[in-house]
Amino acid sequence: MRKPILAGNWKMNGTNPELPRFFESLVQNLPANWSEDVEVIFALPYTLLQQANVLCKSSPITIASQNINQYESGAYTGEISAAMLKDIGVTTTLIGHSERRQYYAETDESVSEKVRVCLEQGIRPIACVGETKDERESGVTEDVVARQVTAILAGVKDLANLVIAYEPVWAIGTGLTASDEQANQVHSFIRDLVAKKFNDEQAQNLRILYGGSAKPANIDGLLKQEHIDGGLVGGASLKADDFSRMINAAVELYGR
Ligand code: PGA
Repeated sequence: MRKPILAGNWKMNGTNPELPRFFESLVQNLPANWSEDVEVIFALPYTLLQQANVLCKSSPITIASQNINQYESGAYTGEISAAMLKDIGVTTTLIGHSERRQYYAETDESVSEKVRVCLEQGIRPIACVGETKDERESGVTEDVVARQVTAILAGVKDLANLVIAYEPVWAIGTGLTASDEQANQVHSFIRDLVAKKFNDEQAQNLRILYGGSAKPANIDGLLKQEHIDGGLVGGASLKADDFSRMINAAVELYGR
């Protein structure tokens, strides 16, 4: 069985003084052994990573960044390398989030390169894919997702340390969510693509998260889908209460 992941993506939100109280109230609302059934990740702004890592040291919560630069070091003002993340004990990162593709000229090529660098450096990428509203409406969702997934897999030799997140761009921060079936269909399509490049068994072990207005009210239906192995959650991860409800929903569904 694939262990589900609930990953919060704080985007450009949050300050250090808020963190202790946030994690305290999050954990307060969780059952004692929650981490046996669900993996919890927070992708935070760079400025919060160090303190969050210290605060979560004795808990199973994983702290992640939201991006890396693909180069090792040098004249890339404002950028952060994989080695710099490892330097502060961060070993998971989002890669290729649609907001980075949309606003910061992230391309399939740079995403591919970043995924390769992460895996070489022992950093686990959560690589994001997803179609825009126009693309869905013109019936090219599978073409777009196939192109993005192919770029991600190009530099991957071993799937063990990779997570993929399917985030339809039209559902991110809009309150619109893909229906459970719509999402599951694309997840299944992604798993098939992965199976073609690797094999069935490895594809079955890959975790594919859904993102796009996931919240306490809809997480249950999404998690019940065969190919949905968790969520990448923006807005609802900023509230400890909402996010702990989502974790609890996953514990209930997956708990032994
Ligand atoms: P949202 O964001 O949950 O606020 O839609 C998801 C994401 O962009 O990762």
